[in-house]
Amino acid sequence: MKTTSRKVYIETLGCQMNKSDTERILGILSHFDYAKGTEDEADFLIINTCSIRKLSEDKAYSKLGVWGKMKQRKPDIKIAICGCVAQQEKESLLKKFPYLDLVFGTHNIYELPELIEELNRKNPDGTSNRICAIRDKAVAEKEFNIIRSKGINAWLPIMEGCNNFCTYCIVPYTRGRERSRNVETIIAEAKKIIKDGFKEITLLGQNVDSYGKDFPEDENGNKPTFANLLAELDKLEGGFRIRFTTSYPTDITDDVIETVKNANKICECFHIPMQSGNDRVLKAMNRRYNRAQYSEIVNKIRTKIKDVTITSDFIAGFPSETEEEFLDTISAINEFRLDYSNTAAYSPRPNTPAGRMTDKFIPSDIKKERLARLNDTVKKASLASNTKDIGKIYEVLVEKINENDEKNGYERIAEGRSRNNKVVHFKSNTAQIGDFINVEIKEALVWCLKGEELNMKDTVAATLEASEEAR
Ligand code: SAH
Ligand code: SF4
Ligand code: F3S
Repeated sequence: MKTTSRKVYIETLGCQMNKSDTERILGILSHFDYAKGTEDEADFLIINTCSIRKLSEDKAYSKLGVWGKMKQRKPDIKIAICGCVAQQEKESLLKKFPYLDLVFGTHNIYELPELIEELNRKNPDGTSNRICAIRDKAVAEKEFNIIRSKGINAWLPIMEGCNNFCTYCIVPYTRGRERSRNVETIIAEAKKIIKDGFKEITLLGQNVDSYGKDFPEDENGNKPTFANLLAELDKLEGGFRIRFTTSYPTDITDDVIETVKNANKICECFHIPMQSGNDRVLKAMNRRYNRAQYSEIVNKIRTKIKDVTITSDFIAGFPSETEEEFLDTISAINEFRLDYSNTAAYSPRPNTPAGRMTDKFIPSDIKKERLARLNDTVKKASLASNTKDIGKIYEVLVEKINENDEKNGYERIAEGRSRNNKVVHFKSNTAQIGDFINVEIKEALVWCLKGEELNMKDTVAATLEASEEAR
């Protein structure tokens, strides 16, 4: 057994794309004798950062501060920063944090082998190199291991970057323009994921509906589309589910809706950030749709796909947003029966158009107050959505078993998600992680559902009943 291996610890902030990048970075490092370790035992500490809001950026800096102190005790450890803050702040980070050894970006994780070598090479005078490697163009991906986090779900990026330039958003600057991965690469990765025993694949992209638009046309003038890709993945053998995120409202095609409707493995769930319910604000955000168009797409999806869940993102206090305009956001959540929404107070980001609208900034106490009302609306909407599920039978993919030794006796509770992404808890003595189990929903709470496991007999009866109903 190898005992010489060095240990790396990666702290990951931000979205699923960052989580996926971390799995790839760990995989690359595993080829260079770095095993995953804890923060305390690591020889190499990496922070994979997010800069979507000031708060996420600050989190990265405070962690670097902690690691800087650690380095005073353990001078041989190496500290690196990567991800969106690194891509945005570049070499200024080396100046700001004198104990930082390496800065690399979102475009060049496949350059890590060379960077590590340079980092670990001592100069003739005994000093080590401090490196900043940020690229504006993506370094081509190479075949390396991927060390995925354990669980039932595997992230599978299908494209990276964004061409939308919403005025508040830093992502186009930190992740670059849209770049789709090849269909063959994605299919091969999906097959490996299934072979490795994962039960769910989540396809990732800032705007999945743009998949393939950056490819050249083939000899018949065609390009791969997101709908084609979904259909291809749905054909793969095995008992697993497919999810995808994020959809841009007006880019969702009828083909995608039809494909989701007809597929077996693709879950009935769309994440469609609306950002604001007011047309003037949407325009100022450079979102390419209005409230009526958003309504149209939501209605179309709901009409075509039974039990579909539609979730969204909203920003409170975008520069110049009035109280009346904000109320349009509250009413949108209710009118479109959005099942769940992520919310945030507007945070000015460097180099973005909205970040320069300083004379129109909303005072932070007003932003906070609007955010609180927004959260309250989301909470009520979530409960209303969950209440509608009572009496339904959902197939739950078990993610977790909670063994509760409660005052009122031992309880073994299985926790998982329905196809439409609702969290469901149910008592079970036999359910195992990774099982698909039919559960009848009995109770609705704000953020989850409670139900009863159906045995085989019940399931067959329920299925018969459902198919009779459909006839
Ligand atoms: N690609 C996705 C979302 C990416 S960022 C989309 O097109 O919607 C995730 C969410 O962060 C966004 O939907 C937005 O609601 C929020 N966000 C982005 N920039 C922000 C900012 N400057 N302040 C507050 N929230 C922001
Ligand atoms: Fe940001 Fe807009 Fe692109 Fe989403 S679509 S990543 S919000 S610029
Ligand atoms: Fe954050 Fe970058 Fe993702 S800014 S949300 S980690 S793309």
